[in-house]
Amino acid sequence: MKFFSLLLLVPSSLFTAVNAWQDIRDAPSNPIDIQDGQTGVLMVLPPAQTDTSIKRVPDADHPFIAPGPNDMRGPCPGMNTLANHGYISRNGITTFEEIINAVGEAFNINRNQGAGMAAMNILTRGNPFVNKISIGGVSPFVPPLPGQIDGPATQGIAKHGRVEGDASITRADVHIGDNRNFNKTLWDTDLEILANFGDDGPDGPATVFNLQTLIEMKRQKLDAFANGTTGLATKHIMTSFLMDQKFPDNWFRNGFPMQGSSIPAQIAAALPQWVPGCNDENGVFVADPPAPAPFNISGGCANYWDVLTNAVPGPLANVTGIFKQNVDLLTGILFNGSGCAEPLAPAGPTNT
Ligand SMILES: *[C@@H]1O[C@H](CO)[C@@H](O)[C@H](O)[C@H]1NC(C)=O
Ligand SMILES: *[C@@H]1O[C@H](CO)[C@@H](O)[C@H](O)[C@H]1NC(C)=O
Ligand SMILES: *[C@@H]1O[C@H](CO)[C@@H](O)[C@H](O)[C@H]1NC(C)=O
Ligand SMILES: *[C@@H]1O[C@H](CO)[C@@H](O)[C@H](O)[C@H]1NC(C)=O
Ligand SMILES: *[C@@H]1O[C@H](CO)[C@@H](O)[C@H](O)[C@H]1NC(C)=O
Repeated sequence: MKFFSLLLLVPSSLFTAVNAWQDIRDAPSNPIDIQDGQTGVLMVLPPAQTDTSIKRVPDADHPFIAPGPNDMRGPCPGMNTLANHGYISRNGITTFEEIINAVGEAFNINRNQGAGMAAMNILTRGNPFVNKISIGGVSPFVPPLPGQIDGPATQGIAKHGRVEGDASITRADVHIGDNRNFNKTLWDTDLEILANFGDDGPDGPATVFNLQTLIEMKRQKLDAFANGTTGLATKHIMTSFLMDQKFPDNWFRNGFPMQGSSIPAQIAAALPQWVPGCNDENGVFVADPPAPAPFNISGGCANYWDVLTNAVPGPLANVTGIFKQNVDLLTGILFNGSGCAEPLAPAGPTNT
Protein backbone atom coordinates (compact mmCIF):
# COMPACT_ATOMS: atom_id res chain seq x y z
CA MET A 1 0.00 0.00 0.00
CA LYS A 2 2.01 2.91 -1.16
CA PHE A 3 -0.17 5.97 -1.36
CA PHE A 4 0.87 8.67 1.06
CA SER A 5 -1.22 11.53 2.28
CA LEU A 6 -0.55 14.29 4.73
CA LEU A 7 -3.30 13.10 7.04
CA LEU A 8 -3.42 9.38 6.78
CA LEU A 9 -3.15 6.96 3.96
CA VAL A 10 -6.31 6.88 1.95
CA PRO A 11 -7.22 6.83 -1.71
CA SER A 12 -9.90 9.42 -2.33
CA SER A 13 -11.92 7.04 -4.48
CA LEU A 14 -12.75 4.88 -1.49
CA PHE A 15 -15.31 5.27 1.23
CA THR A 16 -18.50 6.46 -0.24
CA ALA A 17 -21.14 4.25 1.33
CA VAL A 18 -20.44 3.58 4.97
CA ASN A 19 -23.41 2.90 7.15
CA ALA A 20 -22.77 0.57 10.01
CA TRP A 21 -24.55 2.70 12.55
CA GLN A 22 -27.78 0.72 12.32
CA ASP A 23 -25.97 -2.61 12.66
CA ILE A 24 -24.04 -1.49 15.70
CA ARG A 25 -27.04 0.03 17.42
CA ASP A 26 -29.06 -3.14 16.92
CA ALA A 27 -26.28 -5.49 18.01
CA PRO A 28 -26.78 -7.27 21.33
CA SER A 29 -24.79 -5.79 24.20
CA ASN A 30 -21.36 -7.34 24.43
CA PRO A 31 -19.94 -9.35 27.28
CA ILE A 32 -16.48 -8.41 28.52
CA ASP A 33 -13.97 -10.01 26.17
CA ILE A 34 -10.46 -10.66 27.51
CA GLN A 35 -7.89 -12.13 25.14
CA ASP A 36 -4.23 -12.60 26.05
CA GLY A 37 -4.68 -10.33 29.08
CA GLN A 38 -6.15 -7.46 27.01
CA THR A 39 -9.71 -6.19 27.33
CA GLY A 40 -11.50 -5.71 24.01
CA VAL A 41 -13.07 -2.33 23.26
CA LEU A 42 -15.96 -2.40 20.79
CA MET A 43 -15.67 0.24 18.06
CA VAL A 44 -18.73 2.29 17.17
CA LEU A 45 -18.99 4.34 14.00
CA PRO A 46 -19.78 7.88 15.21
CA PRO A 47 -22.65 9.79 13.61
CA ALA A 48 -21.74 12.22 10.83
CA GLN A 49 -21.18 15.74 12.17
CA THR A 50 -24.17 17.99 11.70
CA ASP A 51 -22.29 21.32 11.65
CA THR A 52 -20.27 21.37 8.44
CA SER A 53 -19.95 25.16 8.23
CA ILE A 54 -16.80 27.12 7.60
CA LYS A 55 -15.20 28.02 10.92
CA ARG A 56 -11.99 29.08 12.52
CA VAL A 57 -9.74 26.23 13.72
CA PRO A 58 -8.51 25.67 16.38
CA ASP A 59 -11.18 26.75 18.83
CA ALA A 60 -10.34 27.95 22.35
CA ASP A 61 -10.41 24.40 23.73
CA HIS A 62 -7.57 23.27 21.44
CA PRO A 63 -4.46 25.43 21.98
CA PHE A 64 -1.11 24.35 20.54
CA ILE A 65 1.07 22.61 23.12
CA ALA A 66 4.38 21.21 21.88
CA PRO A 67 4.69 17.45 22.44
CA GLY A 68 6.57 16.17 25.46
CA PRO A 69 9.40 13.64 25.26
CA ASN A 70 7.08 10.63 25.66
CA ASP A 71 4.44 11.81 23.19
CA MET A 72 4.30 9.89 19.90
CA ARG A 73 4.57 11.82 16.67
CA GLY A 74 5.05 10.42 13.17
CA PRO A 75 5.25 11.00 9.44
CA CYS A 76 1.81 12.55 8.94
CA PRO A 77 1.84 16.31 9.62
CA GLY A 78 -1.96 16.39 9.75
CA MET A 79 -2.11 13.81 12.55
CA ASN A 80 0.79 15.48 14.38
CA THR A 81 -1.03 18.81 14.18
CA LEU A 82 -4.25 17.27 15.51
CA ALA A 83 -2.31 15.81 18.47
CA ASN A 84 -0.42 19.06 19.14
CA HIS A 85 -3.82 20.78 19.47
CA GLY A 86 -5.53 18.00 21.42
CA TYR A 87 -8.08 17.10 18.72
CA ILE A 88 -6.71 13.60 19.22
CA SER A 89 -4.91 12.53 22.40
CA ARG A 90 -1.83 14.65 22.92
CA ASN A 91 0.23 11.54 23.67
CA GLY A 92 -0.26 10.43 20.06
CA ILE A 93 -2.22 7.27 20.90
CA THR A 94 -5.62 7.51 19.31
CA THR A 95 -8.75 5.49 18.49
CA PHE A 96 -11.15 4.81 15.63
CA GLU A 97 -13.81 7.21 16.88
CA GLU A 98 -11.31 9.91 17.86
CA ILE A 99 -9.72 10.02 14.38
CA ILE A 100 -13.09 10.30 12.64
CA ASN A 101 -14.33 13.04 14.97
CA ALA A 102 -11.05 14.96 14.86
CA VAL A 103 -10.65 15.06 11.08
CA GLY A 104 -14.33 15.97 10.81
CA GLU A 105 -14.11 18.80 13.33
CA ALA A 106 -10.75 20.27 12.30
CA PHE A 107 -10.64 19.61 8.53
CA ASN A 108 -14.33 19.03 7.76
CA ILE A 109 -13.51 15.62 6.35
CA ASN A 110 -16.66 13.64 5.67
CA ARG A 111 -17.48 10.93 8.24
CA ASN A 112 -17.27 8.06 5.77
CA GLN A 113 -13.92 9.18 4.44
CA GLY A 114 -12.61 9.67 7.98
CA ALA A 115 -13.82 6.15 8.80
CA GLY A 116 -11.96 4.83 5.76
CA MET A 117 -8.73 6.52 6.87
CA ALA A 118 -9.12 5.21 10.42
CA ALA A 119 -10.01 1.69 9.21
CA MET A 120 -7.03 1.46 6.87
CA ASN A 121 -4.58 2.64 9.48
CA ILE A 122 -5.88 0.62 12.43
CA LEU A 123 -6.11 -2.59 10.38
CA THR A 124 -2.56 -2.25 9.12
CA ARG A 125 -0.73 -0.56 11.99
CA GLY A 126 -2.94 -0.51 15.08
CA ASN A 127 -4.46 -2.93 17.58
CA PRO A 128 -8.11 -3.32 16.50
CA PHE A 129 -8.92 -5.43 19.59
CA VAL A 130 -8.20 -2.68 22.12
CA ASN A 131 -9.05 0.07 19.57
CA LYS A 132 -5.74 1.90 19.74
CA ILE A 133 -3.15 3.14 17.27
CA SER A 134 0.05 5.13 17.64
CA ILE A 135 0.52 8.01 15.19
CA GLY A 136 4.27 7.45 15.64
CA GLY A 137 6.21 4.31 16.53
CA VAL A 138 5.85 1.43 18.98
CA SER A 139 4.20 2.51 22.24
CA PRO A 140 3.71 0.77 25.58
CA PHE A 141 0.07 1.95 25.39
CA VAL A 142 -0.63 -0.12 22.25
CA PRO A 143 -0.02 -3.81 23.04
CA PRO A 144 0.87 -6.42 20.42
CA LEU A 145 -2.19 -8.12 18.91
CA PRO A 146 -3.56 -10.88 21.19
CA GLY A 147 -1.49 -14.02 20.70
CA GLN A 148 1.11 -11.83 18.97
CA ILE A 149 -0.44 -12.92 15.66
CA ASP A 150 1.31 -10.00 13.92
CA GLY A 151 4.61 -10.29 15.76
CA PRO A 152 5.81 -9.05 19.15
CA ALA A 153 4.88 -5.37 18.71
CA THR A 154 2.15 -3.21 17.19
CA GLN A 155 4.12 -0.76 15.12
CA GLY A 156 2.16 2.47 14.62
CA ILE A 157 1.80 4.47 11.43
CA ALA A 158 5.45 5.54 11.34
CA LYS A 159 6.51 2.00 10.46
CA HIS A 160 7.52 1.75 6.84
CA GLY A 161 5.96 -0.67 4.40
CA ARG A 162 2.20 -1.03 4.88
CA VAL A 163 0.74 2.44 4.90
CA GLU A 164 3.70 4.79 5.26
CA GLY A 165 4.97 4.90 1.68
CA ASP A 166 7.81 6.71 -0.02
CA ALA A 167 7.78 10.01 -1.92
CA SER A 168 6.73 12.29 0.92
CA ILE A 169 7.51 15.91 0.20
CA THR A 170 8.97 16.62 3.62
CA ARG A 171 10.18 13.27 4.95
CA ALA A 172 13.12 11.37 3.46
CA ASP A 173 12.42 7.94 2.00
CA VAL A 174 13.15 5.32 4.64
CA HIS A 175 16.13 3.84 2.86
CA ILE A 176 17.63 7.27 2.28
CA GLY A 177 17.23 8.85 5.66
CA ASP A 178 14.88 9.73 8.48
CA ASN A 179 11.34 9.10 7.24
CA ARG A 180 9.63 10.45 10.33
CA ASN A 181 10.89 13.92 11.09
CA PHE A 182 10.65 17.12 9.11
CA ASN A 183 13.48 17.26 6.57
CA LYS A 184 14.66 20.83 5.91
CA THR A 185 16.53 19.82 2.76
CA LEU A 186 13.39 18.36 1.21
CA TRP A 187 11.30 21.33 2.28
CA ASP A 188 13.81 23.72 0.69
CA THR A 189 13.42 21.73 -2.53
CA ASP A 190 9.65 22.07 -2.23
CA LEU A 191 9.99 25.82 -1.81
CA GLU A 192 12.14 26.02 -4.93
CA ILE A 193 9.41 24.18 -6.82
CA LEU A 194 6.87 26.58 -5.34
CA ALA A 195 8.94 29.57 -6.46
CA ASN A 196 8.96 28.17 -10.00
CA PHE A 197 5.41 26.93 -10.29
CA GLY A 198 3.35 28.61 -7.55
CA ASP A 199 0.65 31.18 -8.15
CA ASP A 200 0.73 34.71 -6.80
CA GLY A 201 -1.38 35.24 -3.68
CA PRO A 202 -2.01 37.32 -0.57
CA ASP A 203 1.45 36.46 0.83
CA GLY A 204 3.31 37.57 -2.31
CA PRO A 205 4.38 36.30 -5.71
CA ALA A 206 4.68 32.52 -6.16
CA THR A 207 3.39 31.67 -2.69
CA VAL A 208 0.31 29.63 -3.55
CA PHE A 209 0.58 25.85 -4.05
CA ASN A 210 -1.29 25.13 -7.29
CA LEU A 211 -1.86 21.94 -9.27
CA GLN A 212 1.36 22.30 -11.18
CA THR A 213 3.32 22.66 -7.94
CA LEU A 214 1.67 19.56 -6.55
CA ILE A 215 2.35 17.60 -9.71
CA GLU A 216 5.97 18.62 -9.49
CA MET A 217 6.06 17.34 -5.94
CA LYS A 218 4.17 14.15 -6.83
CA ARG A 219 2.03 15.01 -3.95
CA GLN A 220 -1.50 14.38 -2.82
CA LYS A 221 -3.98 16.02 -0.56
CA LEU A 222 -2.39 19.38 0.13
CA ASP A 223 -5.85 20.77 -0.48
CA ALA A 224 -6.82 19.56 3.01
CA PHE A 225 -4.63 22.34 4.36
CA ALA A 226 -6.02 25.21 2.27
CA ASN A 227 -7.52 28.18 4.08
CA GLY A 228 -11.28 27.59 3.88
CA THR A 229 -12.09 31.24 3.23
CA THR A 230 -9.81 31.56 0.21
CA GLY A 231 -9.31 27.93 -0.85
CA LEU A 232 -5.58 28.64 -0.97
CA ALA A 233 -2.77 26.54 0.51
CA THR A 234 -0.09 29.20 0.86
CA LYS A 235 3.58 28.95 1.77
CA HIS A 236 2.82 30.47 5.18
CA ILE A 237 0.05 27.91 5.81
CA MET A 238 2.03 24.93 4.55
CA THR A 239 5.07 25.93 6.61
CA SER A 240 2.89 26.03 9.71
CA PHE A 241 1.41 22.57 9.08
CA LEU A 242 4.47 20.80 7.72
CA MET A 243 7.26 22.35 9.77
CA ASP A 244 5.62 23.62 12.97
CA GLN A 245 2.79 20.99 12.96
CA LYS A 246 0.49 23.70 14.18
CA PHE A 247 -2.68 25.29 12.83
CA PRO A 248 -1.74 28.65 11.29
CA ASP A 249 -3.13 31.71 13.10
CA ASN A 250 -6.44 32.81 11.67
CA TRP A 251 -6.96 29.59 9.66
CA PHE A 252 -10.42 28.44 8.61
CA ARG A 253 -11.55 24.94 7.75
CA ASN A 254 -13.52 24.44 4.55
CA GLY A 255 -17.20 25.26 4.58
CA PHE A 256 -18.16 21.98 2.91
CA PRO A 257 -17.51 18.38 3.93
CA MET A 258 -14.52 17.05 2.03
CA GLN A 259 -15.33 13.77 0.29
CA GLY A 260 -11.99 13.36 -1.36
CA SER A 261 -10.10 15.29 -3.91
CA SER A 262 -9.77 15.34 -7.64
CA ILE A 263 -6.13 16.28 -7.18
CA PRO A 264 -4.75 12.71 -6.90
CA ALA A 265 -6.57 11.78 -10.12
CA GLN A 266 -5.22 14.88 -11.86
CA ILE A 267 -1.71 14.11 -10.69
CA ALA A 268 -2.09 10.53 -11.87
CA ALA A 269 -3.34 11.76 -15.24
CA ALA A 270 -0.40 14.11 -15.54
CA LEU A 271 2.06 11.38 -14.63
CA PRO A 272 0.90 8.32 -16.62
CA GLN A 273 4.20 6.60 -15.94
CA TRP A 274 3.57 6.79 -12.20
CA VAL A 275 2.62 3.46 -10.64
CA PRO A 276 2.26 2.55 -6.94
CA GLY A 277 5.31 0.94 -5.46
CA CYS A 278 8.16 1.63 -3.13
CA ASN A 279 11.91 1.55 -2.96
CA ASP A 280 13.55 -1.69 -1.91
CA GLU A 281 16.43 -1.95 0.56
CA ASN A 282 18.86 -0.94 -2.19
CA GLY A 283 16.83 2.15 -2.99
CA VAL A 284 15.57 0.64 -6.26
CA PHE A 285 11.93 1.33 -7.09
CA VAL A 286 9.77 -1.81 -7.21
CA ALA A 287 6.25 -1.47 -8.61
CA ASP A 288 3.40 -3.20 -6.78
CA PRO A 289 1.92 -6.14 -8.73
CA PRO A 290 -1.24 -5.06 -10.58
CA ALA A 291 -4.60 -6.19 -9.18
CA PRO A 292 -5.90 -9.36 -10.88
CA ALA A 293 -9.35 -9.55 -12.47
CA PRO A 294 -12.03 -8.91 -11.27
CA PHE A 295 -10.35 -6.45 -8.86
CA ASN A 296 -8.94 -4.38 -11.72
CA ILE A 297 -12.36 -2.93 -12.60
CA SER A 298 -11.48 0.40 -10.97
CA GLY A 299 -8.69 2.13 -9.10
CA GLY A 300 -10.71 1.96 -5.87
CA CYS A 301 -11.28 -1.77 -6.18
CA ALA A 302 -7.65 -2.42 -7.16
CA ASN A 303 -6.52 -0.46 -4.14
CA TYR A 304 -8.87 -2.45 -1.86
CA TRP A 305 -7.35 -5.65 -3.27
CA ASP A 306 -3.85 -4.29 -2.63
CA VAL A 307 -4.65 -3.31 0.97
CA LEU A 308 -6.37 -6.58 1.93
CA THR A 309 -3.82 -8.75 0.12
CA ASN A 310 -0.60 -6.97 0.98
CA ALA A 311 -1.14 -4.77 4.02
CA VAL A 312 -3.77 -6.20 6.41
CA PRO A 313 -2.22 -9.14 8.32
CA GLY A 314 -3.78 -12.47 7.30
CA PRO A 315 -4.43 -13.77 10.84
CA LEU A 316 -7.00 -10.99 11.31
CA ALA A 317 -9.26 -13.20 9.18
CA ASN A 318 -9.44 -15.75 12.01
CA VAL A 319 -10.07 -13.70 15.14
CA THR A 320 -13.06 -14.05 17.49
CA GLY A 321 -15.34 -12.07 19.80
CA ILE A 322 -14.96 -8.28 19.97
CA PHE A 323 -11.75 -8.63 17.98
CA LYS A 324 -13.77 -10.11 15.10
CA GLN A 325 -16.57 -7.55 15.44
CA ASN A 326 -14.06 -4.70 15.16
CA VAL A 327 -12.15 -6.27 12.25
CA ASP A 328 -15.45 -6.92 10.45
CA LEU A 329 -16.51 -3.30 10.96
CA LEU A 330 -13.20 -1.96 9.61
CA THR A 331 -12.92 -4.34 6.64
CA GLY A 332 -16.61 -3.72 5.91
CA ILE A 333 -15.94 0.02 5.73
CA LEU A 334 -13.09 -0.56 3.26
CA PHE A 335 -15.21 -2.94 1.18
CA ASN A 336 -18.22 -0.61 1.11
CA GLY A 337 -16.04 2.17 -0.25
CA SER A 338 -14.13 0.03 -2.72
CA GLY A 339 -16.55 -0.43 -5.59
CA CYS A 340 -15.65 -4.14 -5.67
CA ALA A 341 -18.35 -6.78 -6.14
CA GLU A 342 -16.87 -9.31 -3.71
CA PRO A 343 -15.25 -8.78 -0.32
CA LEU A 344 -11.81 -10.22 0.45
CA ALA A 345 -10.46 -11.67 3.69
CA PRO A 346 -7.28 -10.15 5.12
CA ALA A 347 -4.31 -12.04 3.65
CA GLY A 348 -1.27 -9.84 4.12
CA PRO A 349 2.06 -10.88 5.63
CA THR A 350 2.74 -10.66 9.38
CA ASN A 351 5.49 -9.03 11.41
CA THR A 352 6.54 -6.71 8.57
C1 LIG B 1 -21.94 -1.69 4.13
O1 LIG B 1 -23.04 -1.40 3.30
C2 LIG B 1 -24.19 -2.21 3.59
C3 LIG B 1 -25.23 -1.94 2.54
O2 LIG B 1 -25.48 -0.56 2.44
C4 LIG B 1 -24.67 -1.89 5.02
O3 LIG B 1 -25.78 -2.70 5.35
C5 LIG B 1 -23.54 -2.16 5.99
O4 LIG B 1 -23.91 -1.73 7.29
C6 LIG B 1 -22.27 -1.43 5.59
N1 LIG B 1 -21.18 -1.88 6.43
C7 LIG B 1 -20.33 -1.05 7.01
C8 LIG B 1 -19.28 -1.65 7.87
O5 LIG B 1 -20.36 0.16 6.86
C1 LIG C 1 16.86 14.81 4.07
O1 LIG C 1 16.66 14.67 2.69
C2 LIG C 1 17.87 14.69 1.92
C3 LIG C 1 17.48 14.68 0.44
O2 LIG C 1 16.76 13.52 0.10
C4 LIG C 1 18.73 13.48 2.30
O3 LIG C 1 19.94 13.52 1.58
C5 LIG C 1 19.02 13.55 3.79
O4 LIG C 1 19.70 12.37 4.18
C6 LIG C 1 17.72 13.66 4.57
N1 LIG C 1 18.03 13.85 5.98
C7 LIG C 1 17.55 13.05 6.91
C8 LIG C 1 17.95 13.38 8.31
O5 LIG C 1 16.78 12.12 6.64
C1 LIG D 1 -7.53 32.98 5.60
O1 LIG D 1 -8.32 33.87 4.83
C2 LIG D 1 -8.86 34.97 5.59
C3 LIG D 1 -9.79 35.74 4.68
O2 LIG D 1 -9.15 36.07 3.49
C4 LIG D 1 -7.71 35.81 6.10
O3 LIG D 1 -8.24 36.85 6.92
C5 LIG D 1 -6.81 34.93 6.95
O4 LIG D 1 -5.66 35.66 7.37
C6 LIG D 1 -6.33 33.73 6.14
N1 LIG D 1 -5.56 32.85 7.02
C7 LIG D 1 -4.34 32.38 6.69
C8 LIG D 1 -3.72 31.48 7.71
O5 LIG D 1 -3.77 32.65 5.66
C1 LIG E 1 -8.25 -7.04 -15.83
O1 LIG E 1 -7.33 -8.10 -15.95
C2 LIG E 1 -7.68 -9.04 -16.96
C3 LIG E 1 -6.73 -10.22 -16.88
O2 LIG E 1 -5.40 -9.76 -16.92
C4 LIG E 1 -7.65 -8.34 -18.32
O3 LIG E 1 -8.02 -9.24 -19.34
C5 LIG E 1 -8.62 -7.17 -18.28
O4 LIG E 1 -8.54 -6.45 -19.49
C6 LIG E 1 -8.32 -6.25 -17.12
N1 LIG E 1 -9.37 -5.25 -17.01
C7 LIG E 1 -9.13 -3.96 -16.93
C8 LIG E 1 -10.31 -3.06 -16.80
O5 LIG E 1 -7.96 -3.52 -16.93
C1 LIG F 1 -7.44 -19.41 9.64
O1 LIG F 1 -7.92 -20.60 10.24
C2 LIG F 1 -8.03 -21.67 9.33
C3 LIG F 1 -8.70 -22.82 10.05
O2 LIG F 1 -8.08 -23.03 11.31
C4 LIG F 1 -6.64 -22.04 8.80
O3 LIG F 1 -6.72 -23.07 7.87
C5 LIG F 1 -6.05 -20.81 8.12
O4 LIG F 1 -4.72 -21.09 7.73
C6 LIG F 1 -6.05 -19.64 9.06
N1 LIG F 1 -5.65 -18.45 8.30
C7 LIG F 1 -4.73 -17.59 8.74
C8 LIG F 1 -4.40 -16.47 7.83
O5 LIG F 1 -4.20 -17.70 9.83
